[in-house]
Amino acid sequence: MRDVRICEVGPRDGLQNAKHLMPTEAKKRWIGALAAAGLEEIEVGSFVPPKLIPAMADTLEIVAYARTIPGLRVVALAPNFKGFQRALEAGAHKVTFPVSASRLHSQANVRMSPEQMIEEVQKCIREREKLAADKRPGIEGAVSTAFGCTLQGEVPEDEVVRLASRLAQAGCDAVALADTVGYANPAQVKRLFRRVRGEIGARLEGAHFHNTRGLGIANALAAYEEGVRAFDSSMGGLGGCPFAPGASGNVITEDLVFMFESMGVRTGISLEKLFLAREALVAGLPDEPVYGHTPAAGLPKNFRQVA
Ligand code: COA
Ligand code: ZN
Repeated sequence: MRDVRICEVGPRDGLQNAKHLMPTEAKKRWIGALAAAGLEEIEVGSFVPPKLIPAMADTLEIVAYARTIPGLRVVALAPNFKGFQRALEAGAHKVTFPVSASRLHSQANVRMSPEQMIEEVQKCIREREKLAADKRPGIEGAVSTAFGCTLQGEVPEDEVVRLASRLAQAGCDAVALADTVGYANPAQVKRLFRRVRGEIGARLEGAHFHNTRGLGIANALAAYEEGVRAFDSSMGGLGGCPFAPGASGNVITEDLVFMFESMGVRTGISLEKLFLAREALVAGLPDEPVYGHTPAAGLPKNFRQVA
């Protein structure tokens, strides 16, 4: 039993912004160790042009490997129709599309306006309908730069609400709000999640926070208190969008799991085994700095996992 669902995005969000490349076999060992720690959902890569992000060049092989892990929901990011087709061929269980609420970030990231990107997502949803029901991946529309943008500055909340509604109407199974550049604060998180939930109800699922200004975990708690039960996070606090200047790591998986478990909120993830997965990460990417308060300090003597 789990009270919250944590999706590890390190192999995608983390590695796309790392200075070093993790070898394919090391990625497999890391993903295997993450799944063994109890992560049921892992975003293992993205289907983008390999020239643009060389770290994602082996995503096809990584998805194929991840699909062999029993019980794991294998997630991949796609920025367009071609990426979606590649994700279908690979057999990803869920595909996430980044739809920037900042017009400038949208152009920089996917070379499309937010409206064009919504049309692209709609085209993918129509394509999915051609498949047999048991072959259809889940589709998530992630409204990125939802809390502000380093290129544009302010992102109007009305625009975030509008895009989230359009993604829900288009037939996305889930909509997420993402703080791509770490601008969000807890009051804003509560306000925006509440507004979007008011428009699209339970379609609003995920919260994706970056820790750029140290507020990642505070924002995750604010979202939890607002009823959010699905969170993205990255082991070692790796992460960041290469096309959003100043973006840095995601909220740290180890600290997020510690926060929830110590509050009595079940994650289904073993912290001891998570620390083993962290060893696999460091072994695969030895020159990359990794972060995390809980791994550095160790678990408190009186700490008990909920179940
Ligand atoms: N996977 C692999 N190749 C792709 C591709 C994909 N998803 N999409 C396009 N291509 C190829 C095209 O076939 C074409 O190849 P060619 O030059 O051999 O003919 C080339 O890339 C250019 O295609 P085009 O459609 O003009 O793309 P673009 O140059 O306008 O780039 C995106 C658009 C969306 C592909 C690119 O901006 C992108 O991948 N963005 C995502 C960035 C990202 O991952 N950000 C972080 C996560 S939020
Ligand atoms: Zn991100």
